[in-house]
Parts: sequence; C-alpha cells; structure tokens
Amino acid sequence: MKKIGVLTSGGDAPGMNATLRAVVKAGTYHNLEVLGIEAGYIGLLENRFRKLDILDVEEIVSYGGTIIKTGRTKEFQSEVGFKKALANIKSLELDGLVVIGGNGSMKGAQKLVDAGVKVIGVPGTIDNDITGTDYAIGFDTACNIVTNTVDRILDTATSLVGDTPRVFVIEVMGRNSGEIAITSTLAGSVDALLIPEQEVDYDEITNNLKRKFEMGKNYGIILMAEGVGKVDDISRELEMRLGFKVRETLLGHQQRGGRPTAFDRVLASKLGAEAVNQLVKGENAKMVGVRNNVVEAVDLEVVNSEQKKFNDKNYTLTKMICY
Ligand code: F6P
Repeated sequence: MKKIGVLTSGGDAPGMNATLRAVVKAGTYHNLEVLGIEAGYIGLLENRFRKLDILDVEEIVSYGGTIIKTGRTKEFQSEVGFKKALANIKSLELDGLVVIGGNGSMKGAQKLVDAGVKVIGVPGTIDNDITGTDYAIGFDTACNIVTNTVDRILDTATSLVGDTPRVFVIEVMGRNSGEIAITSTLAGSVDALLIPEQEVDYDEITNNLKRKFEMGKNYGIILMAEGVGKVDDISRELEMRLGFKVRETLLGHQQRGGRPTAFDRVLASKLGAEAVNQLVKGENAKMVGVRNNVVEAVDLEVVNSEQKKFNDKNYTLTKMICY
C-alpha cells in the first residue's frame, strides 16, 4: 500500500479536522502518501484533490469545520457519475480510501466497496445516529453547545419575574434522532424533552409544568429535537394549553460550528488513526467505531443495514431528571 485518499462527506461535524490530522499522521507513520479529496464525493466526481502532509494538518486539531470541505451530491448515485468517480480513483492510483461522515456517507462508501475500492469509514456526524459506534465525532461538541444555550436561557428564565411563568422551547438538531436532545437534557436544567422516537404527550408536559408552577417555580425549559416538528407549532400548541405566551429558540447551525471538545478530538484522533491501521492491515469494507470504550471495526454492511438502536433506559432516566 502506497497511497490513500481521505474525504469528509455530508454535514460537517466538529472534529472532522482532528480526524484528518490523525489520518495524515498515521498515514505518514506507515510511509503512505495521503491525498485529501475535496468536498466529499464531489471531489471524486470532479477529480479535486490535494496532497496532505504533516504540516498541512499540524495545527488543525482544534479547528471546527473541515479544511478539505465536505459535500452532498446526487450525481454520485447516478451510473454516469459513479463511473466518473471510479475512473478518477483509478487514475489517482489510490490503494485505499477513508470516508469520514454520517449515514449517507457510509452508504456511498459501501457503493465504492461493491465496485472494488478498499474503503474504511469513520463516523462523523453531530446526530450520533450511526449503528456500530457509541459515539460519532461531533456529537459531544454539539451537546456542549446545546448545554451552553440551556444555561444561558436559564439565567434569563430565573431572573425576570412577571405576571405569568415564562416557558422556553429550544429546538435542536439531530435529523430523525433524539440523541442530542436527550443528552443535553441530562446535562442541563430542562423540564421536558420531545424526541421523534416517542409520541409527544402534551398532557404530561403541561401537567408537570403546572405542578412545578404550583410549587413556586415561575419558568420552564423544554428541549425538542427537530425530528418532532417545528418549534413554532410546538410552542403554539403549548401556549394554547397553558394559556400564556411561550418563547422559542431555534438553535440551528451553531451546533455544527466552533472548536471541538477534548472528547471529540480524542475520539477523532483514535478513529482516524485506526482507520489507516485497518487499511494497512489489509482490511476493507469496515467502519471504525468505539463500543464500551474500545475502538473496534464493524462491517459496513451492518452499519448500512441496521438502524441505531434507541436507548430506552437512557430515555427513562432522562425523563426522571426532568420531572
Ligand atoms: O446531519 C447533520 C445535520 O446537522 C442534521 O442534524 C440536520 O438536520 C442537517 O444536518 C442540516 O443540514 P443542512 O446543513 O443541509 O441544513
């Protein structure tokens, strides 16, 4: 093995740069040339790449985003587009490829494997919705950003006194997963949690808030995952049931930016280096992940065929903290 490629694909996640550092450093350790393919699978279609050596990645461990850009493209799925990508991989003489990204990126990785390319995936998405790993790179940073927002809202919520209690609803990312909302609820001072994996029980939410208001609390903080619906609609419904105004916050892309946490940097460093080790060992069609604190490789086929199992126990414990 002489030359490998690396790309970041799908939604950017804090820690992708730390992963790139690990891939380039581990590649250099194994005497490999490393090419950074730009803008995810778009770079494979358009033959956009640049050689990465250790000085290109020396300082990027703390940077948000991804220095080689990321991308989403439908063209890669088309027969013509895919053939172009394969021809470019051949012309670059890549002996292996590391794909860093979320569920869609792992599906693209499988497509390349089926066409004979050696690929190892690395889970990078704030959503933490990938099978085969307890944590995806970027998730911890996103949860820290959400927790920070909850703390800030708590400051204003606990300071201003008015004629009615003030209720705040915060919408967080996660696509169809409630992982960010659940974890941030555990970390912060939150009264109710709405996630797409569970039916919304408005009676339970409002009864719990009213119970706390009767006890003397004059505010409520609710976290909702974007997969549940729109923060406007949820707030209006709550307003109707509570009989007073509800404030809303749509946190949005802030959750994907900024410096990665130490946890994400460490995870990214381990998984990026292990992805290269797997290629060097002659492995293929795997995704590296961390399970029970052990770095392991799992078959890409399993990653792509199974939905991440919902952690019921975690959810139940989280609800106890809210109530
Ligand atoms: O998958 C990461 C993610 O941030 C999701 O949480 C969110 O639904 C989506 O990407 C947003 O995508 P875009 O950046 O294209 O708006």
